[in-house]
Amino acid sequence: MELGDLLRPLLRGWTIPLLLFTVGYTLVYLPQIEKELDEGCSLLPDTHFVLYSKRVVTTQGIGPYSVEVEGERIVSVTKRSEAPKSLPGKPRVLDYGNAVIMPGLIDTHVHLNEPGRVEWEGFLTGTMAAAAGGITAVVDMPLNSRPTITTKEHLENKIKASKGKIFIDVGFWGGLVPEYAHNATVLEDLLDAGALGLKSFMCPSGINDFPATTAKDIQASLPVLAKYGRPILVHQEVVDPPADPAHLMQGEPVSNARSYQRYLNSRPISWETEAVRQLMEVAKDTRSGGVADGAHVHVVHLSDATNTLSIIKEAKAEGSSVTVETCAHYLAFAAEDIPEGATQYKCAPPIRDSRNRELLWKALLDGEIDMITSDHSPSTIDLKLLEEGDFLKAWGGISGIQFSLPATWTHGSARGMSIEQMSNWWSAAPAKLANLPRKGTLEFGKDADIVVWDPEASFVIDGHYPIYFKNKVTAYMGHKYSGKVITTFVRGRQVFEEGLHSPKACGSPIHPVV
Ligand SMILES: *[C@@H]1O[C@H](CO)[C@@H](O)[C@H](O)[C@H]1NC(C)=O
Ligand SMILES: [Zn+2]
Repeated sequence: MELGDLLRPLLRGWTIPLLLFTVGYTLVYLPQIEKELDEGCSLLPDTHFVLYSKRVVTTQGIGPYSVEVEGERIVSVTKRSEAPKSLPGKPRVLDYGNAVIMPGLIDTHVHLNEPGRVEWEGFLTGTMAAAAGGITAVVDMPLNSRPTITTKEHLENKIKASKGKIFIDVGFWGGLVPEYAHNATVLEDLLDAGALGLKSFMCPSGINDFPATTAKDIQASLPVLAKYGRPILVHQEVVDPPADPAHLMQGEPVSNARSYQRYLNSRPISWETEAVRQLMEVAKDTRSGGVADGAHVHVVHLSDATNTLSIIKEAKAEGSSVTVETCAHYLAFAAEDIPEGATQYKCAPPIRDSRNRELLWKALLDGEIDMITSDHSPSTIDLKLLEEGDFLKAWGGISGIQFSLPATWTHGSARGMSIEQMSNWWSAAPAKLANLPRKGTLEFGKDADIVVWDPEASFVIDGHYPIYFKNKVTAYMGHKYSGKVITTFVRGRQVFEEGLHSPKACGSPIHPVV
């Protein structure tokens, strides 16, 4: 007798109950679990609805469109001169009138610092601030968590720590440090564990367990990145004395530690230029047919729009796979306006003069800078040394994730920037950098990651303004902006609406597309 013959009579009596159980479990019980999991994830009870306004940013241009959302996806984008009617049995229509409906912003440069430095910033507070700022996805930097994210184990630990604490989707850059830069196994493990790419520093990072890499270290990682089709992001400063020592002597007397000019002089443009020169040399390997064809080099937070930018332009023109970002604070502020001791403006590379700010805007508008990020880099308030006002000793990093959209809009619209250009720099281009094909535009089949905002509404960030990031020290304090976020949707879930967040944090870690 075969095994099958033995089982047959046994199964005969059980077949129908088993089948009923399986069908019942699949149809009734499983959806129940999913529904429960989802409860509290959205301020809107509907899972099928339509957003409408006269100014929707689509891939066909800006105009009156309805955007239909079902579950987590956009299922249609339709041009129509009037809002569809809300009818019984039809999906709910949310008519936002003349407000802008746009793809959610994607911020590929943020420091959430959890686990390990959660008193600086955490998943919960950082992503609450992001959601309130119209940001639907961020990619987190491998520092200043503790430990820094330089191995597979550290990344897995970090992803675990984010569970139930993120209001938006969060991806992760892995860290490239000298210890592992020449060890393909460690790098491949890190990329396999979910790092969307790598990040390194060419100067001291300020964090002991994240030492600087040389151009050679970076070069060694490129063939590994090429295999995965992922980028390396590089902090582009090297500690290199400026060619003209007189440069350091300009400005304020060296004794005045509260002088912004003194801080500015301590990190001259030549640091940025020299780092980028070295970096663009190794980026040649990414050219078609090169040993790292398929890898990509991304320059983070460009602050100098003169010599440094010229070198990047040249590398692009010669076929290297290179992109560059600048940050909202370089576009919003100028060195001359930074008061003595105002260390909330300290970041590296430093905010330069207003002439340079205009050149950064020109470079964006001319298509020479690819995208914008916040480089949200908080610390505890005491590390900013606000009373002492010592620019050299204070922690360098600006908290601004919640204000990226209004700051970009206010300063950009004054210089002729269109809403579509802003959307490209804040959504489409970063989606491309991080390889997020389901995000970045409002199109059929894409994730329903959406921000609705009012370009005309203005507000002052004062002591009463609700700030959601953990340490409420920010360069944006005291400034007036236009561009108010009305509501934010992440994969179809309404996570923020005018001062209110969804009861639960239901964002997901972003895993690489392979
Ligand atoms: C790479 O790093 C791992 C983990 O530290 C180590 O076991 C391995 O020997 C290293 N490989 C090389 C080639 O150095
Ligand atoms: Zn940073």
